[in-house]
Amino acid sequence: MNHEQVRQLVLDTYFHSQEHFYHPQYMIYQETNENLLELFRYYDVKDKDVLSVLASSDQVLSCYYCGAKSIDTFDKVYLTLFYYYLRKWVILYQKQLYPSHSFFESGDKNIYDLICQVRPTNIDEENAIIFWKYYLELNQFKADKYLFYLSIIKQPKPFGDSIDRIKGIFDKEISFTCMDFFKDTTIQKKYDVLLLSNILEYASTQKQLYFARRNIESLLKDDGIAICTYLRNRDTSYAHKKEVHILTSHSLKLDRDNCTYYEPLWNDRIKLAYSYQLKKK
Ligand SMILES: C[S@@+](CC[C@H](N)C(=O)[O-])C[C@H]1O[C@@H](n2cnc3c(N)ncnc32)[C@H](O)[C@@H]1O
Repeated sequence: MNHEQVRQLVLDTYFHSQEHFYHPQYMIYQETNENLLELFRYYDVKDKDVLSVLASSDQVLSCYYCGAKSIDTFDKVYLTLFYYYLRKWVILYQKQLYPSHSFFESGDKNIYDLICQVRPTNIDEENAIIFWKYYLELNQFKADKYLFYLSIIKQPKPFGDSIDRIKGIFDKEISFTCMDFFKDTTIQKKYDVLLLSNILEYASTQKQLYFARRNIESLLKDDGIAICTYLRNRDTSYAHKKEVHILTSHSLKLDRDNCTYYEPLWNDRIKLAYSYQLKKK
């Protein structure tokens, strides 16, 4: 993306939020709404090559903390990359895990001043600086509620509240591909683990699921797994059965489907995740 495209993205983002509606192309998860602490107890990513959805960056930070060998990222929302850098600055310079509440509510000039002082280490970070500076100038130094999805349920992460456990990730450059998982991928590498979050839940046509299956098959190494995190209990739902039916094939099988965790808010055990595994050829 060149600087002009970044500026255009700011304007598009700004006008969408002014029109007061949530638009999936201009929305960022401020924080994960998945129980990543439990997830990484079930699924070991140590010394593995991982491709993860970027989203709020919490999945990626968790993989780093849990010892993944390499972590590449993708998301269909380009802004997630800019949020990754915003989190980097807040973590490294403000020593906070997330931008402050005031950033989302009343406006936080500290963040703007911080961004003005950042020295970019690569072109993506340079773009992120342009994006946030310009966006915040337009939006009175605060992040509009229509840009961010603020999760009401705080979920535990493997790294807890510790900044020291995760800050090392920012020493390396992050690899990001902007892609829709329901279209053919351009990523050539193969991975041990794909972290899909609950993307498959958003499929609205069978064709999208066929694309997802083809992508999973081409992105996984033999025995590799694609992890789908549950947010609702979809065990009995027609949509989930249809998804499993389409995704399982001669090369993919439904793997672990019984991970649960205790959710204090609902006083109940709820589904954590399920996965698909690529069978050895
Ligand atoms: C599915 S959402 C749900 C949030 C998630 N539960 C979390 O804790 O972060 C996660 C991310 O997936 C991205 N996403 C949704 N559908 C996608 C698709 N078809 N292809 C690629 N990314 C997608 C969204 O932009 C978002 O950043």
